[in-house]
Amino acid sequence: MTDKTKSILLITPDSNISDLIGSALKTDGGLKIETQTETLAQMNGRAVKMMSDHDVILFQTSPNNMAEITAIEALTASRRPGTTLIALVDGNVSLSQVRALTHAGVDEVLPLPSTEEDLDGRVLKLARAAAVKPAENLSRGRIIAVTQARGGIGSTTVAVNLADQLVGTRGWGGRKSGRKVALVDLDLQFGTVGSFLDLPEQDSLLQLALDGVVPDANFLDQSMVKGPNGVSVMPAPSKFAPLDSLRPDQVAAILDTLCQSNDFVIVDLPRAIVNWIEPVIQRADELLVVTDMSVPAIRHCRRLIEFFTQDNPSLAIDIVVNHESRPLLQSRVHREAAKALERKLDLWLPHDARAATNAADRGKPLSLTAPRSPLGKAMGRLAQSVVNRQQEQARRQGSTKE
Ligand SMILES: Nc1ncnc2c1ncn2[C@@H]1O[C@H](COP(=O)(O)OP(=O)(O)OP(=O)(O)O)[C@@H](O)[C@H]1O
Ligand SMILES: [Mg+2]
Repeated sequence: MTDKTKSILLITPDSNISDLIGSALKTDGGLKIETQTETLAQMNGRAVKMMSDHDVILFQTSPNNMAEITAIEALTASRRPGTTLIALVDGNVSLSQVRALTHAGVDEVLPLPSTEEDLDGRVLKLARAAAVKPAENLSRGRIIAVTQARGGIGSTTVAVNLADQLVGTRGWGGRKSGRKVALVDLDLQFGTVGSFLDLPEQDSLLQLALDGVVPDANFLDQSMVKGPNGVSVMPAPSKFAPLDSLRPDQVAAILDTLCQSNDFVIVDLPRAIVNWIEPVIQRADELLVVTDMSVPAIRHCRRLIEFFTQDNPSLAIDIVVNHESRPLLQSRVHREAAKALERKLDLWLPHDARAATNAADRGKPLSLTAPRSPLGKAMGRLAQSVVNRQQEQARRQGSTKE
């Protein structure tokens, strides 16, 4: 990271928007803002030339317009490492339009602010963070949040074994990947990560909830328990804690601190939607929703996706279908589910009661109890897909980090 003044190029045909964002960002002395009052497509290639002088390109766009998509692709094709592209879109865009933008290479898609209050939110924070800390953003660990479409569907099984597979031990005597992985059980009241890994009780989360302190690196160092294979785990409290006893800034601090010293931070989310989930979703690089193919579960998945993308439209959400092997040909039910969720169904975990029960009973991950079982192998493929997504994103950002 250099100490030169960081620069934002703001492109919008709407002078109200440019005034709103321009004047808000100008209050930050460390930032330089250049504004173009036209669309990206109207700039007709000039944006590509101007891009090399800026750290963040913040532009208003319409994903319906092919000329805009082409202009975005031209930008992403020639951007240098560390340049962040943030699209501002009308709040009514569909999920598939947001996906078209991220597919074209946009890093973040945010709703267009209409009032000064909207501006206090993500647009400004993101533009400032991206401009001031590009190098740090690229090197921080990746946050993968795991949630469920219904109780008992297998989200903790996924979180535990994903963390384990990312460390990379391949069974007895296997090689390690060298990745550092943290696993945080935020299922505050009903969390079972500790028993899945047979860990000693650790009540740091309860202490945070009761004392109200914001945790630092020192606190977290002492709070994490080493699980099998070297995953650092923060288990849920062993005693009852009210759901609203944690605060969003405490959860944000846990994740930000763990990201600095780990390559991956896996978060097992509670089923209830509480206010401290927002900082997890804001920071998540990927959200895995574990489901089966039942109609109520798919409906709930759809509701979760709509809820989480409302304020975070570019959040990468992947569906994990549990208790079902990948079909050779997808049935009508699969196709309808994929359509309802506006996503391909790529991640499948077979029903494998023997391996799942044995691992849970022995308090160990599948890589240590049944690495060659159908479920053990499928967990390896799931972890590989998470690594592939990271590499794809790193390539898009021109980073050399895995
Ligand atoms: N693919 C699978 N095949 C067979 N059993 C499974 C599979 N995945 C999970 N299980 C079993 O299902 C049970 C519930 O799994 P898990 O605790 O991971 O679900 P959850 O979604 O986290 O539940 P909760 O709502 O309690 O948080 C466990 O006994 C687990 O071993
Ligand atoms: Mg669970």
